[in-house]
Amino acid sequence: MSASGLDKNTRRNSGPPTSAVIAGLGTCLPSKEIHNASLVGELDTSDEWIRTRTGIESRRRADPAVSVIDLACEAAGNALRSAGVATVDGLIFATTTPERPCPAGAPEIAARIGQGNIPAFDVSAVCSGFLYALATAGSLITAGIADNVLVVAAETYSRIVDPADRSTAILFGDGAGAVVLRSGPPDEPGALLAYDLGSDGTGAHLIRIPGAREQATGERWFAMSGRKVYLQAIDGMAQSTLRVLKDCGWSAETLDQLVPHQANARIMEALAKRLDLPPERVVCELARTGNTAAASIPLALADAAAAGRLRPGHRTVLTTFGGGITWASAGLIWPKLTAVTSEI
Ligand code: UT7
Repeated sequence: MSASGLDKNTRRNSGPPTSAVIAGLGTCLPSKEIHNASLVGELDTSDEWIRTRTGIESRRRADPAVSVIDLACEAAGNALRSAGVATVDGLIFATTTPERPCPAGAPEIAARIGQGNIPAFDVSAVCSGFLYALATAGSLITAGIADNVLVVAAETYSRIVDPADRSTAILFGDGAGAVVLRSGPPDEPGALLAYDLGSDGTGAHLIRIPGAREQATGERWFAMSGRKVYLQAIDGMAQSTLRVLKDCGWSAETLDQLVPHQANARIMEALAKRLDLPPERVVCELARTGNTAAASIPLALADAAAAGRLRPGHRTVLTTFGGGITWASAGLIWPKLTAVTSEI
């Protein structure tokens, strides 16, 4: 994929005078931790290979009784508590691993967390799902359709990766994250200052989950051309980040924290080098969660904030790349908030 291809297919929004502001952050992880050592017995791999090639030490696996909607409801409730609000005007749910193709999960999440009859729908943009949903929710707010919106991302990849495929079974984990967005002035910390969203459907074959027709012919599991995605992800996130930096009026030198999709520590290291950022200004928090697809950015935000790496006032860019192919980035000044986290 060429640089010009990425540029040509991208839509941007620098933000009208009223902004959408991140006001609360919540997460939920399954309590069951699967260490590399326990995969070594099942696959032709080693703890050393997984650590050095991915940075992952363990990942979470949801109990069979826990659904992706259970994880989403926990994270959403935590985000509401973090924001100190009881109700929202809308809910958007990003997932690659829905409970079923129909109906969408969002209305059920809204009902279960006591939000009544608000508009609620799912977004399908794989690892870019959280940022696509964030931009959509932000647009509902800046268009005056909603005053506050919950954006929830949850995944149960442990149910769709082939347990015998060593290139994917070691990478992915289950988890959920959510934010509350509300209307506010653009100069308020937490205001989304710029977005960059794009896609390239010619890469649709690179990350796939079989549909009903393929399943009928025996194809069952998630599949990824890891190496190709690896190389495109570095390029795609670097270019998308640069576009958001430009729209925010920032430079890489003045950026405090880059929060990339948590797919592979080596991708994040290469991204840091490409953008000339020192490692301490790129959040890498996947060691104990693995790649949680759409949920990875809110989970990383909560971990980085808890560790004191991400602090109020930090110039922050969120960036992601994944199936579709899709990519997305957003820029904001990190607000003063306390993430609420739980395990299930
Ligand atoms: O979330 C959506 C976006 N996803 C991503 O961004 C993920 C992108 N891809 C990756 O993270 C990496 O490509 C992988 C972790 C999937 C693979 O790492 P890699 O350094 O790109 O390895 P590779 O695919 O080039 O494979 C190198 C070797 C191969 O063996 P041969 O052909 O050289 O003999 C693989 O079969 O490593 C082998 N290999 C493994 N060996 C031990 C692949 N997986 C494993 C494993 N343990 N788990």
